[in-house]
Amino acid sequence: MKPIQVGLLGLGTVGTGVVRIIEGHQEDLMSQVGSPIQVRKVLVKDMHKQRHLNIDPALMTEDASEVVYDPEIDVVVEVMGGIEPTKQLILDALAQGKHVVTANKDLMALHGPEILEQARANNCDVFYEASVAGGIPIIRTLMEGFSSDRIKKIMGIVNGTTNYILTKMSQEGAAYQDVLKEAQTLGYAESDPTSDVEGLDAARKMAILATLGFHTTIGLEDVEVKGISSISKEDIAYAKRLGYEMKLLGIAERQDDQISVVVQPTMVKTSHPLASVNGVFNAVYVYGEAVGETMFYGPGAGEMPTATSVVADLVAVVKNLRIGVNGKQGHHAYRTKKLKTDDQ
Ligand code: NDP
Ligand code: HSE
Repeated sequence: MKPIQVGLLGLGTVGTGVVRIIEGHQEDLMSQVGSPIQVRKVLVKDMHKQRHLNIDPALMTEDASEVVYDPEIDVVVEVMGGIEPTKQLILDALAQGKHVVTANKDLMALHGPEILEQARANNCDVFYEASVAGGIPIIRTLMEGFSSDRIKKIMGIVNGTTNYILTKMSQEGAAYQDVLKEAQTLGYAESDPTSDVEGLDAARKMAILATLGFHTTIGLEDVEVKGISSISKEDIAYAKRLGYEMKLLGIAERQDDQISVVVQPTMVKTSHPLASVNGVFNAVYVYGEAVGETMFYGPGAGEMPTATSVVADLVAVVKNLRIGVNGKQGHHAYRTKKLKTDDQ
């Protein structure tokens, strides 16, 4: 069967993992989708940059139109981040009838409805599993696994960088700035880590989870946010002496038609399962009226875990292509009514 052609926007931490998985797992992928998956073009900012990956230089470009307007490309995988020019590139790709996979929570939390509308209008898929909790398939779980239930609460550690920092401060007494630098070197932090440490990255993820879990539209403006930049080693040591671990928690709750979403440093009793989620790991606790308590755990950031989710979305797009249902059962089919938030 004709290979599926992929255009990659970005070849940083996540993009590199995506290429590695497509190449390394080619046979397993083919056995699921029935045709080879090929990377046809890769957009980067600087073609002369040293890369930790052997890639044919002929695939690389600094010209986005070579990806977005290439008629041979079936799926655009966006792992470059940021709002612009990324948003416009995605809208253009969708207008060309290309399906989109993205890891970009900033974009989906702020402009999800516009992007999903463009996808719908062009019968295209937009999948964004990697945008929340890296390697944990929590978006699919909320939308498919819990489609029969009424979710009341979603609570979790959804930022790997801050959990890495808090863990190292708690377990090794490490200094905040040193650990932040480590998280950047390991590829966990955002290009501007302010969004990690000030809780914005977690707030964007909680907005996405609350939107999907509660079948509504929760914007960033609906989330109350406080980050960890003012938490000191002494605060963490004090919490520990009292039998607590300090964690940056996102908490989304629904009571009748009222929804509240907050992100804040929280003292978690050491006996609670969330207290032992350490390092770059994330965990999401979901409480459904029928199912009761559930919890999902795994690496929340980093090259290969995040790329796992991105390539799983790619497989989902190709499976939809095979049965001709793109744009009909993607992540966009789930927004319904706007529920009330605390300030309404
Ligand atoms: P990086 O900064 O490592 O990589 C970004 C890539 O995009 C680079 O290859 C860069 O080019 C390219 N790029 C950036 N801006 C432009 C531009 N204007 N034009 C052309 N190319 C551009 O980011 P990550 O891989 O860490 O993150 C990518 C996305 O995935 C972000 O949305 C992030 O939030 C999300 N994400 C990241 C996770 C992680 O663990 N890192 C986990 C989950 C989601 P060049 O290489 O030449 O600089
Ligand atoms: N900067 C993010 C984090 C990347 O640390 O969780 C994964 O979304």
